[in-house]
Amino acid sequence: MTWNPATYLAFADERTRPAAELLARVPNIAPGRVVDLGCGPGNSTELLCARWPDAKIEGLDSSPDMLVKARASGVAADWIEADVATWQAAAPYDVIFSNATFQWLGGHPELLPRLAGYVKSGGTFAFQVPHNMDAPSHVLMRETASNGPWAQRLADVREVSVLPPEAYYDILKPHAAAVDIWETEYLHVLSGEDAVYHWVSGTGLRPFVQALDAGERDAFVAAYKARLNAAYPRRADGATLFPFKRLFVIARR
Ligand SMILES: C[S@@+](CC[C@H](N)C(=O)[O-])C[C@H]1O[C@@H](n2cnc3c(N)ncnc32)[C@H](O)[C@@H]1O
Repeated sequence: MTWNPATYLAFADERTRPAAELLARVPNIAPGRVVDLGCGPGNSTELLCARWPDAKIEGLDSSPDMLVKARASGVAADWIEADVATWQAAAPYDVIFSNATFQWLGGHPELLPRLAGYVKSGGTFAFQVPHNMDAPSHVLMRETASNGPWAQRLADVREVSVLPPEAYYDILKPHAAAVDIWETEYLHVLSGEDAVYHWVSGTGLRPFVQALDAGERDAFVAAYKARLNAAYPRRADGATLFPFKRLFVIARR
């Protein structure tokens, strides 16, 4: 599954804001080693470098395309190509940070304690994941996928995986001195035609369209856009309002 950094960064402001709000709740320590898991084009890593200019900061991602963009960003981090699912830390970190990435990985009950174990005592494990699988944008994606000639081909497309907030408490509390969890629902104000489609085409829609050939893809996208535009009508000023819930978790070791 490939990523397109330009499509992703079309909403850079909206996508980076939760990283800033997550970081604001990380205790004010002077970390030596910090890693940004799923750093993407480096937008979240840039926040870490700005807050901790003296720390050794790494940005890790499995997408070569995202890392090309990150390396060109000028952000003073070391960039690492690796899969979080199999990555092993060579040495412990003061802060492990991750914005909008863990939803792409399954097995959170095993993954998160393993990652938390790479954080030093007194350090912080902080992550944010979208929590909007019941929003019309995702419901209609699944509905379009299962209603059309492509239904068979899309039957095995894996959904992103996010657990209820309480599950993250139960998973992380045995490994943490304190766990801080909250949700925020943003009301993004998007502009232009097919605005919600453009948003999801940079993230959640990719596994669906990448499983189709060109002809089917066009028909699938047209059917999905029609549903989206009915669910998210444009306002009097032409804007489209896109409610978007996100889940934030901070575990202090
Ligand atoms: C939605 S972007 C988030 C980018 C950035 N952290 C931000 O705050 O906007 C998700 C990133 O996670 C990366 N990713 C997804 N699965 C991954 C995995 N198993 N290992 C490493 N990176 C992964 C993707 O390549 C992508 O760059």
